Amino acid sequence: MRQFLSNCTADAMASAAKRLIAGDLVAFPTETVYGLGADATNSKAVARIYSVKGRPSDHPLIVHIASMDRMSDWVREMPEYAIKLAREFWPGPMTLVLKRSEIAQDFITGNQDTVGVRVPDHVVALALLEAFEKVGGKGVAAPSANRFGHVSPTTAAAVIEELANYLSKDDLVLDGGACAVGVESTIIDCTGFSPRVLRPGAVTTKMIEKLTDLKVVKNISGAEIRVSGTLDIHYAPKANVILDAIPSEGDGLMALIDIETPKNVFRLASPVDNNEFANILYATLRLADRLKLKNIVIIQPHGNDLAIAIRDRLKRAAAREIEN
Ligand code: TXA
Ligand code: MG
Repeated sequence: MRQFLSNCTADAMASAAKRLIAGDLVAFPTETVYGLGADATNSKAVARIYSVKGRPSDHPLIVHIASMDRMSDWVREMPEYAIKLAREFWPGPMTLVLKRSEIAQDFITGNQDTVGVRVPDHVVALALLEAFEKVGGKGVAAPSANRFGHVSPTTAAAVIEELANYLSKDDLVLDGGACAVGVESTIIDCTGFSPRVLRPGAVTTKMIEKLTDLKVVKNISGAEIRVSGTLDIHYAPKANVILDAIPSEGDGLMALIDIETPKNVFRLASPVDNNEFANILYATLRLADRLKLKNIVIIQPHGNDLAIAIRDRLKRAAAREIEN
């Protein structure tokens, strides 16, 4: 299994960039979660992302670029508030959805007239994207590097666990350590008069409103924009995720450090604050599966910061429970 893994020297980045140009896949770390990258202008390479992930092919992908200077390649207009957001929060855990240019083709956008773009804040991701641009690349399409509906990977080992059986011998997984944020980027639709948050993340509504002086529009469910991470069941481990309940004997438990562990319950994680909660959430869900636990009880954190993104992901991880 190990043959995919690569370290992150400058030479390794240059050869990873060449693999992308050749149409191979390169999984790489970002500050949020690991992404499964392909040349965003190569329809065959992008088709492989869909088959490796087992994801429906009409779901749009985020294009990753090394800096804001590349925006004009991918989008045809950018309102002033979007420029402000990009200047403030890039590189960082934020994706902007804007009107696409002609290089953002249907196989990237899921046939929509918009494209999602992001500048990630991770030395390895940025080095890879810069190396890719140096050899003529325009942008790297990268969904989270997990099988469709599963928990996103926050380490290279988790990428291997998810995808080793589906990758080809010329694909690569860059090991850049554990991700700092731990949940996926905030997705902001910037095609209207005001920003609209499609997926909450580390860039919060409060931060967006403070910077832009605009009221963030609430996302209307059932809207025509497709965000696969907003399906009811997503981010799901094999264990049942049960929210805000008293755990029974043999259950796993994840809760902030000040919450005590009942007798005969397996304490999986005790984050000290919401940042650490987000940071270790997905690794904890994976741990529950490795331990073959049937149930994992998670006491949701309160607050309006990263806690909103955590509760959003937990609701979907637990959705199976509601269904059956
Ligand atoms: O943090 C992240 O955003 C990670 C890292 C790797 O950058 N990527 C990520 O990609 O989470 P993915 O594909 O797992 O989730 C991206 C979400 C999808 O739900 C997709 O539907 C939505 O972004 N999306 C992409 N382009 C869009 C567009 N044009 N309009 C609406 N939603 C879009
Ligand atoms: Mg995903």
